[in-house]
Amino acid sequence: MLRRWSLAALGCVLGSFHVGCGGGSLESVSTAECASGKKWTGGDSGSSEMHPGGDCIQCHSQRADAPRFVVAGTVHSAAHEANDCAGVEGAQVVITDAKQKAYTLTTNAAGNFYLRAGDAQDFAFPFTARVTHGSVERAMSTPQSTGACGSCHTVTGTAGAPGRINLE
Ligand code: HEC
Ligand code: HEC
Repeated sequence: MLRRWSLAALGCVLGSFHVGCGGGSLESVSTAECASGKKWTGGDSGSSEMHPGGDCIQCHSQRADAPRFVVAGTVHSAAHEANDCAGVEGAQVVITDAKQKAYTLTTNAAGNFYLRAGDAQDFAFPFTARVTHGSVERAMSTPQSTGACGSCHTVTGTAGAPGRINLE
């Protein structure tokens, strides 16, 4: 892990294969491997761009050094992207809680979005979600009681979800 991290840092210094050098580690891959052409290769190194498609909240809840999120996940460009494939940057994720309070999150270079627990102390479950990017809009009308988007929006979909949160 340490060695990978140093290599990633070197890549940033050299300005070579890296897409995001602000602590992230996204590398270019073929579009056959990831529809977005970008993949996270930083392992468990803490970063806002880490493990796109992963179950952020599940892992963070087991790691004392990881930040607490109320909701977190990834917006992908394709419905069945593999774990660690980056998603779509600049999509808006609107989360509406049970008190009708709306939180708007913008996806980063990895397609990741998250709401820190400290920024939503009165968040009320269940919530609904809407994702927009340009003229594309996808809505989840079924209210959910966990903000761990990645627990259901897996490669093939779990608990009735159609696969990734995606804009396909
Ligand atoms: C397999 C475990 C694991 C998964 C999955 C995971 N993380 Fe993390 N994350 C960690 C750990 C451990 C840390 C804290 C250690 C560190 O900062 O190096 C962390 C730290 C972070 C940080 C803080 C970084 C900083 O600069 O302090 C952010 C933001 C973050 N994760 C976002 C996410 C998001 C968003 C997802 C899902 C798309 C995610 N993580 C998925 C383990 C994970
Ligand atoms: C407990 C499982 C579960 C969790 C957690 C979950 N979803 Fe979903 N999601 C579903 C199911 C089931 C559907 C399909 C039914 C529907 O659209 O209401 C869905 C559909 C969607 C859709 C519409 C997909 C499409 O192609 O039209 C979006 C967007 C979405 N979810 C976003 C989110 C976001 C954002 C989060 C996290 C904040 C999240 N979901 C958390 C189960 C879940």
